[in-house]
Amino acid sequence: MGDHSMSEKASSQTGPNHIGIIMDGNGRWAQSQGLSRIKGHQQGVETCRRIIEACQALDVHYLTLYAFSAENWNRPETEVNGLMELLELFLMKETGTLKKKRVRLHAIGRIEDLPARPRAALKKAIEATKEFDEWHLILALNYSARNEVVDATQAIATLAANGALDPGSIDWDTISSHLYTGGLPDPDLIVRTSGETRLSNFLLMQSAYAEFYFTATCWPDFTKAHLEEAIRSYHNRERRFGRTGEQLDVETSLTY
Ligand code: IPE
Ligand code: IPE
Ligand code: MG
Repeated sequence: MGDHSMSEKASSQTGPNHIGIIMDGNGRWAQSQGLSRIKGHQQGVETCRRIIEACQALDVHYLTLYAFSAENWNRPETEVNGLMELLELFLMKETGTLKKKRVRLHAIGRIEDLPARPRAALKKAIEATKEFDEWHLILALNYSARNEVVDATQAIATLAANGALDPGSIDWDTISSHLYTGGLPDPDLIVRTSGETRLSNFLLMQSAYAEFYFTATCWPDFTKAHLEEAIRSYHNRERRFGRTGEQLDVETSLTY
């Protein structure tokens, strides 16, 4: 009972299969070097490339990157425009690489409200990679977990009002399949860079049982080694899903 090696076995030695990252600290990174905020975002895009590649090397099949929150529209117009340009450029430049690496692109958020150019580039990249099924890159764009709940509720309520759905039959599966992430697995690990320890409206429903990892490193400085450190930390956690550590030990000894 409570045997350390047993509970280590019961911990998440495999995976994470899905990592969500709140890519934060581009602005502070830039300011600390006397650069403009947009230079920080440019450097942040380089980190995205590095981390997409690292995920494949580390056998992480799903990577969700929080790239632009619904609240980020409140930033100065020049910064918002710069971010939208960077998004378009990233999509145009990276689609070839994603195809070569057989990574399927998804987007979550109110995509229809993005400016026309990045929206078109996004649509094209999603279309170009839709045949792949092993590796997944999910971009959270104009994303807000609360908006996601609103949108799912409206969709479900419409079905119910049209008689296509019995309100009494609505369960978590119904709701989960109407979230932007319908069909995607929940994140196992959520990482936030730059020292902030909040979720800022990111995947609130989906991360109900995720592990969290916070690091002071700003996103432009985040490397594969930092990601490996986050994964190591994840492996040392015991994911109990409401059960006791002893129950997990018994189950583990049955499976080993
Ligand atoms: C994260 O970096 C990128 C986006 C939110 C788009 P920030 O721009 O939030 O960087 P800080 O938090 O100001 O340092
Ligand atoms: C969260 O970062 C959004 C993204 C990483 C895209 P913010 O920097 O916008 O979050 P707050 O404002 O510090 O909560
Ligand atoms: Mg920030």
